Order: sequence, then C-alpha cells, then structure tokens
Amino acid sequence: MAHALEELIAGGVKGRHVLVRSDLNVPLDGTTVTDDGRVKASLPVVKKLADAGAKVIVMAHLGRPKGQVDPKYSIKPAADRLQDLADFTVEVAEDVVGPDAQKKARDLGEGEVLVLENVRFDPRETSKDDQERASFAEELAHLTGERGAYVDDAFGAVHRRHASVFDIAKVLPSYLGDLVATELKVLSTIIDNPKRPFVVVMGGSKVSDKLAVIDNLIGKADALLIGGGMSFTFSAAQGYKVGRSLLESDQISTVTQYLERAEAEGTKIVLPTDAVWASEFSADARHEVRSIDSLEDGEIGAEGQGLDIGPKSQELFAQYIKDAQTVFWNGPVGVFEMEAFSGGTRAVATAVAESDAFSVIGGGDSASAVRNLGFSDDEFGHISTGGGASLEYIEGKTLPGLEALGV
Ligand code: 3PG
Repeated sequence: MAHALEELIAGGVKGRHVLVRSDLNVPLDGTTVTDDGRVKASLPVVKKLADAGAKVIVMAHLGRPKGQVDPKYSIKPAADRLQDLADFTVEVAEDVVGPDAQKKARDLGEGEVLVLENVRFDPRETSKDDQERASFAEELAHLTGERGAYVDDAFGAVHRRHASVFDIAKVLPSYLGDLVATELKVLSTIIDNPKRPFVVVMGGSKVSDKLAVIDNLIGKADALLIGGGMSFTFSAAQGYKVGRSLLESDQISTVTQYLERAEAEGTKIVLPTDAVWASEFSADARHEVRSIDSLEDGEIGAEGQGLDIGPKSQELFAQYIKDAQTVFWNGPVGVFEMEAFSGGTRAVATAVAESDAFSVIGGGDSASAVRNLGFSDDEFGHISTGGGASLEYIEGKTLPGLEALGV
C-alpha cells in the first residue's frame, strides 16, 4: 500500500531533508525552456513540502546524456524556471551527489529547495546492474542525513527502472507525490470507467510505438481515430498506395488483425480519408490535399509523402470528438512544427478544447503541441505530464516506479 504525501506531512517534516523525484524534462531551445508545463506541474509538491518546513532536495533528469556530464543537458534552465515560478529559494547543485551537492544539502535551511544536477550525468542512474543503481540510490539517500524521506512526484518517469525512481524507494521511507496520484486517478478513470462515447485520438510517427496501446484500447474505446505518420501503415493495410509516407511494412499484418478485431469488439477505427501530400519533408515543400485512395495520382505523385491529415479528415475527427463524453489524445496528427502541416493537429486541438467531453492530453509531444499552437492548459480536462509513462500505463504494464511505492 503506497503512502500518500499527506501522511509524511502529518508526521512532521519541519527540519527534515526530503528527496523529491520530479520530472523536469522540458524541451529546450539552447537554454530557453520552450514548454514549462512539467516545471509548473512539479511546483505544488515542492512548495507544499517547503511550506511545511522541509529541506527539499529535488532530483530530476533532462534528456538522455548517457551517463556523461554534458552541459547541453544541465538541469539549470529547468531549475531556473522553477525559481522564477516559486516563492521560495531554489539553489542548484553543480553535481549530482558530489561535494557541491553534499555541501548545499547540508547547508539547506527549512523551507529551502536544492535541485541536484541531472541525475543521468551519473551512469549508475540508468544502469542495468542492480548493484550499481543501488549504490547510487544509497548516495542520493545519504544527502538527506538521519531522518530523510523520499517522495516520487515524477509521473513522467515512473516507467523507468532507474535509481532515482525505483531503487531509492528501497532505501528511504517513500511516499506518493500528489502529481503522480492525480495522474493515476485520471488515467485509471478514463481506462476503467470512461463516460461514453469514449473517443481516443492517436497520432505520432511510429505505429510500432503505439501497438500495445491500440491493442489494449480495442474493446475499451468506442472510437479510435488514427492520424500522423502511423496512419499510413493502416492505410497500406487497407490496400492504399502511400508513396514515401512513413510506413512500417513489417506491421501491416498486425494492423490488419487490429482492424478485424476492432470491428468484432465494437471499437470503430477511424482513419484519415485525405492527407496533405508533400513533395518532401520540409517546411516549404510543395503540397496538395489528396484523397486517401489517390494519394499518388496528382502532380506530386508517388514521390510524395503525407505530412498531415486533410480537411475532410479534420471534419470527420472533429465530429467524433464533438459527440464524445471522454476524449484521450496522444500524439500530433501531422508535422505540427511546420506551419503548412499543422492544420490537422490544430483542428483536433480545437475540437477537443470546444467539446464538452472530459479530455485528457497524454504525452509530452501532444502537450507541447497544444501549448505551442497557442492553447492554454485550462481548455482541457487534464494535460498529462507523462509521455511514455501514460502510454505504458494505458497499455496495462507494471510500472517500476509505482511498483516500488506499492501502488
Ligand atoms: C519523458 O520525457 O517522457 C520523461 O521525462 C521520461 O524521459 P525518458 O523517455 O528519457 O526516460
């Protein structure tokens, strides 16, 4: 049975060091945070502990530096953003468990916060060797002194068997952070007990990344709207020619089985009926709208590739979303970063924002997409901080970070 953060606070944290695992893995442009959603989402638990007089040590990763110290992946921009948003002092350590982190942890005052450098700068964080991870977890725990505690508030990382997520919970008394608790509540409700119609929009480039999710949603969702690069494997499975669009030929037979199973189990799989067909993968590529049954027949021809859903598909998807009571959306339906191919993702975001359904946006990319397209968080029911984590949760997998806390 997992212990809630409230239990820790009720037991008294004043003057105690509390190690919090947050997900501060934000997209950067140089050192500028381009989407601070995860920092904002991490703030409440850190603040709650600081307000209760804890000496808070935040550990987090940024990117995948592969166990090497690499300034490009420094946690500093994310920590600075936390400081901007916070009404408490945020210090940043120059190392993870080294002399600077140790000194700054020792010197922390009540209600102050220290952010450790990127935990993935230490190769033991992500090591496959249990003992290496355990030794790193011991050193992290050591920063908390005598009466330390651990709070897991990094929903986005609960699917990782990493030292700061999994092994640390064996070393310190462990508690479930509010952000993780909220994410679990929302995701379990939409999966186990959604208000119907329950409509899922799936996008993104690789169908192989989403197969397990689709598998688990067949029979649960009323409709599964599929866009993005992954939709072309479905279109190919239906016999359409897809030029040079993203296609995973080795998945065609699996996708064909899904189409058959979905029909048998009452889930309608809805595929794009048209696409924005581009001469190449570039922002200024020549492009035209083509119907899905004649993608290769226009001026651009078989050399072209689909980079967005077309206007008819936008309307079709919007209608399903409008009629839904619950919507889960994971993955952009086009190359939204390029203006010419952002129409589909914008149309889906607009339909979700305008619908009366309870909506959940899952996945780092989809969250960044809606924010970068100018939508605000409060236009949606819940924006999940989890990318891979929310998908693996929906797949029904056991997630190491949750297992470690006894969830
Ligand atoms: C994410 O971005 O989904 C989380 O921060 C986890 O990052 P990872 O995929 O590099 O483990």
